[in-house]
Amino acid sequence: MFQPLTIMSGFDLWPGLLDLPAQRALVEAVMAAAEVAPFAHYATAYGKPMSVAMTAFGPLGWTSDPRGYRYAERHPGTDEPWPDMPRALLDLWTLLGDPETPPDSCLVNLYREGARMGLHQDRDEADPRFPVLSISLGDTAVFRIGGTSPKDPTRSLKLNSGDVCRLSGPARLAFHGVDRIVAGSSTLVPGGGRINLTLRRAR
Ligand code: SIN
Ligand code: FE2
Repeated sequence: MFQPLTIMSGFDLWPGLLDLPAQRALVEAVMAAAEVAPFAHYATAYGKPMSVAMTAFGPLGWTSDPRGYRYAERHPGTDEPWPDMPRALLDLWTLLGDPETPPDSCLVNLYREGARMGLHQDRDEADPRFPVLSISLGDTAVFRIGGTSPKDPTRSLKLNSGDVCRLSGPARLAFHGVDRIVAGSSTLVPGGGRINLTLRRAR
């Protein structure tokens, strides 16, 4: 494992950590998962549907309904459990996430052309001592990250296919989002766009 670039304290980036075969295998796993746990556009806190489509691997996925949004054990459309997490993701978490406690959720975000994600904190997990590991596949993203207050200055950086980053420690609750994707910058994702995987320990 090579040394990451520390973009800011607690925010580490491993550019190109996953080679092309590893990226392809993950995209295939996502497409197979989406056959049984279809991508959906959940509502935001403001009631508007997100431009990002989501599904998940592992014991817990993400859902939203009139009661709010939260982790859930079943896909809200099929009422079935989420597909199993691919071994490669569990191994990556052991290496860069936590060696003892496995992740219980991998959220899968699909950004087609024009999709974005507003600045937010990941704070629905029970214990923020566990990091969030993020994997980028397909089109490049213009990612934005700031501090733990919405007033803190932010900076943007590009996340390319195969990049892995980690939010931990002082950056675990940093505001972050995706300004836009660079449509057509990669041909990895069938139908175009970007897939982002985030490994988490939610409970
Ligand atoms: C997220 O914050 O959940 C997604 C970040 C990304 O797509 O890179
Ligand atoms: Fe997030």
